[in-house]
Amino acid sequence: MSAPTFNRKHLLGLHDLTAEELGVILDTTQSFKEVLNRPIKKVPSLRGRTIMNFFSEASTRTKTSFELAAKRLSADLLGIQASTSSLNKGESLKDMGETLTAMRPDIIIIRHQNSGVPELFTRYTDAAIVNAGDGSHEHPTQALIDMFTAREAHGSLAGKNVVIVGDIRHSRVARSNIYGFSKLGARVSVVGPQTLIPSGLERFGVEYYHRLRDILPQADIVILLRIQKERQGASNFPTLREYARFFGLGEDNIHFMKEDAIILHPGPINRGVEISPKLANAAVLPERRYPGQPRNLILDQVTNGIAVRMAVLYLVATHTAWSVADGDES
Ligand code: CP
Repeated sequence: MSAPTFNRKHLLGLHDLTAEELGVILDTTQSFKEVLNRPIKKVPSLRGRTIMNFFSEASTRTKTSFELAAKRLSADLLGIQASTSSLNKGESLKDMGETLTAMRPDIIIIRHQNSGVPELFTRYTDAAIVNAGDGSHEHPTQALIDMFTAREAHGSLAGKNVVIVGDIRHSRVARSNIYGFSKLGARVSVVGPQTLIPSGLERFGVEYYHRLRDILPQADIVILLRIQKERQGASNFPTLREYARFFGLGEDNIHFMKEDAIILHPGPINRGVEISPKLANAAVLPERRYPGQPRNLILDQVTNGIAVRMAVLYLVATHTAWSVADGDES
């Protein structure tokens, strides 16, 4: 039987992907996760390919895990920081894109503070472009991590209740998660201050709740979003303390949740704002997770990030799903 295919040149977002394409990415992620559990965590699957990792905005998780993913696929990797590039001398994104293309990369990974920059780069290069988060538009690999982690915990996502809490308006993670989880048959609800909820969510079948406690008991997957001080300008709620009281998750409201529910957060977390310090600490060691209470899988998301990004790089480079046997034979 032939391997499933992935016919997209780029990964710019989850908006246009089909459920089948999402399934190919998640299944390929599962195969790569097996590699990451081996003593030697490396396969020769992208040997000879060149990957550029261009970050114009701060990042710990995404930048590092794309780097590790490329290295674990045996690709040649170059990191480019906007702050030390010729963008600082006034070079345009067009000239930069054409310059990088002249070096013949196979894939360019882009994080940028402005929405649409990864899409813009597709006009200046014949390399595959992978969006590592652009403005408030999309963060497709983060949503794939969330979907993969939820699928590991719950099996199928069909019929599951996903609750996204916080700054939905400024969040590229929320946007990608709404597209992704909905396509795989989950029901998505959002909760947060009204000032941080965009209009038109009903178009996507997303329900809005004013109070976390009204939807928390039904949640299978709770995704807490970071309060993005860098994108908000004037504050959209009275104080962080107020936010924590009404929309933070902690010891006072976790008891309302199902025992098998999971708690996710893309990171970085604001301790004491989106999540209580004690609940945040419960991600560190499995034995520190509270028995009979929802699991905090925030660090499992980080681990899964490498496998997700290996899958995405491999699929845009080869357009074919990967299985463990492929890696051993390459
Ligand atoms: N989740 C996420 O994008 O984190 P970083 O900004 O640290 O990459």
